[in-house]
Amino acid sequence: MSMLRGKKVLLGVTGGIAAYKAPLIVRLLIKEGAEVKVVTTPAALDFVTPLTLSTLSQHPVHSTFTAETAGEDHPSWNNHVELALWADLFLIAPATSNTLSSMAHARCNNLLLACYLSAQCPVFIAPAMDLDMYAHPANQANMAKLTEYGNVIFPAQEGFLASGLEGKGRMMEPEQIIDQLQAHLANTAPLQGKTVLITAGPTYEAIDPVRFIGNHSSGKMGFALAEEATSLGAKVILISGPTAQSTENSGIQVVEVVSADDMYQAVFEHYATVDIAIAAAAVADFKPENKAQQKIKKQGGLPEITLVPTQDILAEMGRQKQDQFLLGFALETENEEENAMAKCQKKQLDAIVLNSLNDKGAGFGGDKNKITFIDKSGEKTAFDLKSKAAVARDIFDQIIRLR
Ligand code: CTP
Repeated sequence: MSMLRGKKVLLGVTGGIAAYKAPLIVRLLIKEGAEVKVVTTPAALDFVTPLTLSTLSQHPVHSTFTAETAGEDHPSWNNHVELALWADLFLIAPATSNTLSSMAHARCNNLLLACYLSAQCPVFIAPAMDLDMYAHPANQANMAKLTEYGNVIFPAQEGFLASGLEGKGRMMEPEQIIDQLQAHLANTAPLQGKTVLITAGPTYEAIDPVRFIGNHSSGKMGFALAEEATSLGAKVILISGPTAQSTENSGIQVVEVVSADDMYQAVFEHYATVDIAIAAAAVADFKPENKAQQKIKKQGGLPEITLVPTQDILAEMGRQKQDQFLLGFALETENEEENAMAKCQKKQLDAIVLNSLNDKGAGFGGDKNKITFIDKSGEKTAFDLKSKAAVARDIFDQIIRLR
């Protein structure tokens, strides 16, 4: 599982000969599933073309504070703050002596430096220069200073240099930069080494070999939670009822189930060993007492189907809870918060996510959701209507805060 999957990476390219390797860095980042935007210093464009970088990254490349827009009299502003805040991580590769010095001293005479000074995300720097330049105490001091500021330096490597000299100064090779980024993200991931169990989708309760009682749950929320958990470093066991969702994420072990009984069994095969359990499935509350062995024919008249309750999987997880953080979902139509809170207490949860059906575009089937997160002490956090991926991020922010 790539730690770069889904990450927004801002790549800063400065004006050194190693800039010719920047397109390869873009390619490798994209191959790992990252989204990449590129910002360059003006000097970098002597070594690599913006067309190459924009084609590979599929985003425009910015090098100046302003941009001419066709049909407009005045240039528009390239918003460095927006670009910097967009990024989950900022990689500056190659970083020249000049740029390192400016970064260490808060100089801001180009767009890349403005992005650096505005960035709130982790910053990684791969310096590249000639050997004497790299060894110069001024450069060593600047790198030490940047490390002190919390930036991560990927040290230059020994080898053949563009000057014809041989020694330490080559930019770390793109493949190694990607490996280093992965390792760093894995080590700092908040759920590294943790296992998360998630139930998702509907359950189907068989009436006869062809008919069932089911519901409209799409499984999208559960799958979004699974993707988010892996990007935070966790291993995921996703126990899913029948859905159209799929994942190619190797960090997610999908266990496909059909009925509430199957889901119950699958959950308790794993529950004792997980760190976090999230019940996002819309489990049927009732099932036919007996499944007809043959298809029920209409000549037989109106069939009588006796329903019996299914086992409440989440309530049982609450009863068997040891150190797991246990999160449930509640879908309410009246007295929403009171009912959700009561469910949280009754099922012995650490927190509950209240899904609102009262908002257009939220809930079953859709790509968006609007939730209120309520912890067991009753503290509530209400979120806006947003994509299920963004909702998954909000949910894990809350879980990490409470664990
Ligand atoms: N749940 C479960 N097993 C069930 C029923 C529900 O694990 N058999 C879980 C759901 O995944 C969800 C939570 O319990 O996280 C809330 O389910 P819900 O059906 O809304 O709650 P109930 O307790 O069944 O109450 P009611 O139907 O009266 O609202």
